[in-house]
Amino acid sequence: MRKIQFRELFVLSGVLMGALAGLGSWAGRAGSAQPSGLIQGTASAQEQDEDIAQTARKAFMRGKLASNQKIVEGLSTRNFGLITEGTEEIRALVKGQHWFVLRTPEYQGFSGEMQLAAGRLAQAATEHNIEAAALRYFDLTLNCLDCHRYIEKQKY
Ligand code: HEC
Repeated sequence: MRKIQFRELFVLSGVLMGALAGLGSWAGRAGSAQPSGLIQGTASAQEQDEDIAQTARKAFMRGKLASNQKIVEGLSTRNFGLITEGTEEIRALVKGQHWFVLRTPEYQGFSGEMQLAAGRLAQAATEHNIEAAALRYFDLTLNCLDCHRYIEKQKY
């Protein structure tokens, strides 16, 4: 039983590393596409306001990585409290002022799915079921990637 758990977690962690590497490069691409008006000293007041808003939104969005790390650490060390902490942070995100960058039904849908996926992960953590938690985490990560893929196609 224990042997299977470790093997599964090992395989899963490999897959997740790949998924997170994808997230990182996505964030890098998004960053490099930032307007450079401020640096060149040619930005209008409105552009500067947009830059400030964009920086705040990016910082807020990056907060997901810290919560995500808590979950990965919790999974790796069987610290169920840490998993719960990370998932609660992720579920609280939609209440933040920077969350709803789009008011489309799709964005609302991805947000709802993220809430549900985080909720199922929290439930697995409450039940101290490490395999279920690992799989639920995988599900949550796919939701991150799906919403980002959708965002890439939008302009806002
Ligand atoms: C409902 C949609 C949605 C979901 C789900 C979602 N994100 Fe995001 N994420 C965004 C948006 C929007 C941005 C901001 C893109 C921008 O403005 O550059 C973003 C940005 C990011 C960034 C980059 C911030 C930066 O520096 O540019 C990271 C990292 C990130 N998200 C991680 C995650 C993780 C981890 C998850 C899953 C737990 C997740 N996201 C789920 C919508 C989502």
